[in-house]
Parts: sequence; structure tokens; C-alpha cells
Amino acid sequence: MKKEKVIYVCQSCGYSSPKWLGRCPECESWNSFIEEIPQTPQKEIVFGDKKAVFRLNDIEHISYARIKTGMQEFDRPLGGGIVTGALILVGGDPGIGKSTLMLQILGLLPDTFSLLYISGEESLSQIHARAKRLQIGNKNILFSNENEIHHIQQLTGKNKTNLLVIDSIQTIQDATLDTMAGNISQLRSCTTLLLKDAKEKDYTVFLIGHVTKEGAIAGPKILEHMVDTVLYFEGESRNDYRILRCSKNRFGSVNEIGLFQMGAAGLRELKNPSHFFVAESENEQSGDAIAAVMEGNRPFLVKVQALVSKTQFGMPQRTATGIDHRRMNLLLAVLEKRCGRPFGFQDVFIKTAGGLRLDEPAADLAICMALLSGIDDNPLPKEAVYIGEVGLGGEIRAVNRLEERISEAKKLGFKQIYIPASSFKKISSDSHLHAVKHLRDIIV
Ligand code: TYD
Ligand code: MG
Repeated sequence: MKKEKVIYVCQSCGYSSPKWLGRCPECESWNSFIEEIPQTPQKEIVFGDKKAVFRLNDIEHISYARIKTGMQEFDRPLGGGIVTGALILVGGDPGIGKSTLMLQILGLLPDTFSLLYISGEESLSQIHARAKRLQIGNKNILFSNENEIHHIQQLTGKNKTNLLVIDSIQTIQDATLDTMAGNISQLRSCTTLLLKDAKEKDYTVFLIGHVTKEGAIAGPKILEHMVDTVLYFEGESRNDYRILRCSKNRFGSVNEIGLFQMGAAGLRELKNPSHFFVAESENEQSGDAIAAVMEGNRPFLVKVQALVSKTQFGMPQRTATGIDHRRMNLLLAVLEKRCGRPFGFQDVFIKTAGGLRLDEPAADLAICMALLSGIDDNPLPKEAVYIGEVGLGGEIRAVNRLEERISEAKKLGFKQIYIPASSFKKISSDSHLHAVKHLRDIIV
């Protein structure tokens, strides 16, 4: 008997090889190859007399209709609402709140919409319990555990669906293929069929996808190329705030983010993030400093806390939450060398409020001030905000979008705003602003 020809396909990026490989040469993931039987197309191409090229002026201009959910933190990252007919991927770690978010969104849509929620992960009674908890009153949402793509297509046709949620794409399968659900050929086929169905019947699709620890949607990086929009729902499951970030959008910019807080009754919009990330402490406390950061197009203030205590034995400990470890070490070295503080004999713990990731160099100055205040055990003024990048020489460098950061700080009543000296001349100064040239200028 002739052995059937097989190929090996990387489940992460779709790279195929005639041999099994331990590591994918394309995306460098390990143990990602799975045996597949290549499907050879049977049809032949028929050439018609369709017009294939157009001049810009001859192309029909369509302005996309958007559905506003009324939840601004959701509409904003999408570029002002859900574009009808779009295919949107919602990625995130398991347990972060993707199903909760999508169910709440369906609950906000008008009664005139025909909505379909396909759940391959949870039973209908589990969904019922969640919907009750979230007080979803919308009677036009239909739920199903159907996980075969052709059957789902039948459901969308029969119910004249306007908006479909697939929870999750990894649990849906195409029964005409021999492979298991979640496999890359399954994901590709199901997504292609959905794309076609959605364009034909003009409905919108939200695909929920789980993300691996490495940050890619589990398996299908190729999904990101197929869909119109990619949203990532992020956060630490231990903390209750969540960020909805757009990493690809064919219908808008990718700079906007949405902020939420997970509570007993689901997700709430976090309209005033500064209040949340500058949790009030009773008294001035050493090691606390306020940074002004930009997330997408939004400025907000975040508290950085440092705890510095003498090392009791062995190597000094270094722990950072929300701040990159190497960056903390670099800033510690700058403080030791340029400001003469002996961090070499101290344990250092540093964290941001809520564990919010602070990647921006503009937060350097606040991190340094928290560390200095921690080692000196000397609280910083309560109404101070620190904005600036710190260079290796201890000099304070300019940051982008300074005005927006300053105005957020002023809005919240902060009266001492430390900014890079080089930017000082360029902005309209007032008594709240203080120019800093070097770390030495503000330490005591
Ligand atoms: P879920 O939406 O199931 O996450 P995902 O679909 O991304 O896997 O949310 C799971 C977590 O959210 C779960 O640990 C419980 C928590 N949760 C709340 O805290 N409040 C709520 O009202 C709901 C519905 C969930
Ligand atoms: Mg879920």
C-alpha cells in the first residue's frame, strides 16, 4: 500500500516542512510541529471577463457604519465603535475576562440586533449563571454549544445574525478535515469559512482566542493576518484592572486603549485611571513617587513604590513588579555612581500601583525618586509629580507629549511638577513647574 504523503506544520506560524523539526526556523518556537496530510485543491481556475483593475476615482467609497455600544472604554480602542461586517479577534490569557467582556457587550446592544453567542468552552447553564451575575437583560441573544463551523453557518443564516461571538476559536472545528480542533489547519479553515460567511451575510464576528505565555495567540499567529482588527485584553489576574489594547485595526488607529476594573458584577469602565493608580496613602511615606505616563493617547498618573532595606545576609535582593528588572538595575547603578547612594548593600523592592507595566522612559525620574526616597527614608512632597528620562550620566532628558502629562497632573491638583530642563523653555511655564537638569538638582 502506498504510504500517504504527510507534511509537518508549525502550529504557531503555519510554516511547513517535509520533515519533523524540533524548532521552527520561521518563528523559533519549540515542539510546535504536527503531522498533517496536505489537502490538494481539485478545482481548476476559470477565467471570466471581470474587470480586475480600477482607478482610484472609480472605486466606490464606502464609509463604514459603526455600532456604538455606549461603553466608551470598549468603543474607543476599536476606533469609535464596532465596524459592521468586521472580523475582530479578541485575545488574552485564560481567565482574564474575555467571555465576561463579550457577554456584557452583547447585553448593551439594542434589541433590534440578532445576536448569537457560540460557546465551545462552557455549558449553557454556566453561561446562564454568568449572564445572571452580570444582569444581562437582552432577550435577543441566542446561545449555542454548537462547535462545527458548517452548522454554525446554518445558525447564522437561520437566525439572520447581525453579530456573532465565537468563544473560543480554538474550540471550533471543520468536520470535513481530519485534524483536531485548535490545530492550525482547523483554525485557518474555520476562520476562512467565517470570513466568507460574514461578508456574504453581512454580520460582524468577534473571535475569542487564548494567548500563550509568550504573548502570541495560542497557535495561530496567522489569525492575526486574516482578521480586520486585533484586540488584546490584558492585566494580571491577581489585580482587578484590565487594559483593552488594539494591536491591529483596518478601520482606525491602534493608539487607543480601554481601561476596566473587574468586580463582583463584571467589568466596569475605569474612566478616571489616575485616581485608581494613585491610591491615596494616609500620610506621606518614604519610597512613594508619582509618575505621569502615556498609555496610547491617554496621559495618567501612576504611583511607584520602592522599599529599600539593609541586606541581612548574602546577595542583596532585587524584586520589581511592573518595571523591567534590567531597567531597575540600570537606574540603581546610575543612582549609586552619580548620586553616591550605596545600593550595593541594600535589598530593593519596587512596584507600580496595581502592577501596571511601566515601559516608558518618561517614568525613569519617578522610579529614581522613589528609590532615593526609599534609601534615605525621606518622604517626597505629597503634591509632587516627576516626569523625565534619566540618562546614564544622571542627566534628565526630554520626553514626548510633555504638555499632556503636565495637564493631567494639574487636573489632579498636583502642585510641584518636575520636568526636564531642556523642555522647560519651550512650554509656557508657571509656578507649578520645576526644571531639572540632573538628578543631583532635586536630591537633598
Ligand atoms: P472569563 O470571562 O471567564 O475569562 P476568559 O473568558 O478570558 O477565560 O472571566 C474569568 C474570571 O473573571 C473568573 O476568574 C472570575 C472573574 N469574574 C469576576 O470577577 N466577576 C464577574 O462578574 C465575572 C463574570 C467573572
Ligand atoms: Mg472564556
